[in-house]
Amino acid sequence: MSAALLDELRAAVGSSQVLTEGVEAYAVDWRGKFRGMPLAVVRPASTAEVAQVVRLCAAHRAAIVPQGGNTSMCGGPIPDTSGTQVVLSLARLNRIRAVDPIDNTMTVEAGCVLQQLQEAAAAMQRLFPLSLGAEGSCQIGGNIATNAGGVNVLRYGNTRDLVLGLEVVLASGEVLDLLRALRKDNTGYDLKQLFIGSEGTLGIVTAAVLKLFPQPGPATVAFAAVDDPDRALSLLALLRGELGDAFTAFELMSAASVEMIAKYFPGTPRPLARRSAWFVLLEASAAPERVESALAAALAQGLISDVALAGSEAQAQALWAMRDNISEAQQHDGPNIKHDISVPISHVGAFIAETLPLLEAAYPGSRPIVFGHLGDGNLHFNLSRPLDRFDDASWPRETGAVGRIVHDAVARHHGSISAEHGLGQAKREEIARYKSALELELMRRIKGVLDPQGLMNPGKVLP
Ligand code: FAD
Ligand code: MLT
Ligand code: ZN
Repeated sequence: MSAALLDELRAAVGSSQVLTEGVEAYAVDWRGKFRGMPLAVVRPASTAEVAQVVRLCAAHRAAIVPQGGNTSMCGGPIPDTSGTQVVLSLARLNRIRAVDPIDNTMTVEAGCVLQQLQEAAAAMQRLFPLSLGAEGSCQIGGNIATNAGGVNVLRYGNTRDLVLGLEVVLASGEVLDLLRALRKDNTGYDLKQLFIGSEGTLGIVTAAVLKLFPQPGPATVAFAAVDDPDRALSLLALLRGELGDAFTAFELMSAASVEMIAKYFPGTPRPLARRSAWFVLLEASAAPERVESALAAALAQGLISDVALAGSEAQAQALWAMRDNISEAQQHDGPNIKHDISVPISHVGAFIAETLPLLEAAYPGSRPIVFGHLGDGNLHFNLSRPLDRFDDASWPRETGAVGRIVHDAVARHHGSISAEHGLGQAKREEIARYKSALELELMRRIKGVLDPQGLMNPGKVLP
């Protein structure tokens, strides 16, 4: 059975694009936490080939696991260990099909790496604003499938807000062409939104029409010390008023996050001499004088205790590298329990104040590494093991009891247990506790309509 499928897949995409050996990079996730065993990794080069692969897998009842850059934090692109699932890599669908300066759009294939798209937009004096630490390797198809957030959501929204049109290969092998470049279209249900954020469980994204924006002019980046998250929220409100739409990013970092970066990236600059429990990194597409004047007001009001502005592009990049390297620093530091939560922005301070003592009481000496997209109410509320108890093997690698404490606190604040990373396999069961039975039932019914055989990335998202 599987031998016949493999032969047919080879005939469809060429033998060299059906890998059955040397597939480690496709079988393990970025965190090294989820490991699967694919029947094969198939690398089609066009939408027609993707559709053919899906039809063949459907005929053989073989499950398909779409994979982009494999930078997911929750095991979404990793097959199970049965040796029967086909990983469908989108890497070879990497063409920019069209750019249109009048529509202000770019039509791109799913396997384009995000950074390639940012650069292509810049080359035509435009901005594609999606930006995240993994942008050098994640693909736009993966960004769309996870509705990725990142550091510019404050100004430009999530991936969902950046997509005008989609092309999707359905579980039946049909190609759903929604590749419209329309700014307005009220002709019934907006089907593309179903696929955005569906993590490969409803269909395979093969191309998209993306919104472009005017290039915002030079950015000013600043790093400030704040005594507590509530003051950081007051600073957020002040900067919104002073800088308006020029204000594009507002990231929070605990002192422990900053220490961790210094430990694993020794060349990292220390922008402020003053010690502080919390720091914020902010960016605005505004002249330094305008940002400085807003920050001077914040200093005068006691919202920040110290601040440094990047004096050059290199310094700005160094500040951002510091922020972007937190995830990798944590990887070096041993197992950590990740939470990717959101609460209403105004609740962040109360959420942190309430949850940290609960974790300390349950796991004395554990090390919270709290950072994230404060401007969106999205925290990466991660927990590393106490140094004097547990070892790397015994510290729980996934949420479990720790997650229950964090996620129940999130629920008390009417938040979400996955703000931007998705559910994948990591939070598939956890979500059952926090979504209503009716919501889950509707999700199952939609899945049943679009994927009646249950072959699109099974075991992900739905409990
Ligand atoms: P993959 O990891 O390959 O796949 C993710 C999911 O999408 C899987 O379920 C997969 O099956 C599905 N999928 C992939 N491609 C397709 C397709 N074409 N059609 C249908 N389904 C598909 N995420 C954020 O949101 N914000 C951040 O700030 C952020 N920072 C990160 C920093 C680092 C250092 C790292 C390693 C990750 C970060 N992430 C962040 C998580 C990750 O980069 C994003 O989720 C990203 O969108 C995943 O893209 P990918 O191409 O790697 O997808
Ligand atoms: C980030 O914002 O750096 C990633 O989304 C977070 C993470 O590693 O949890
Ligand atoms: Zn993030």
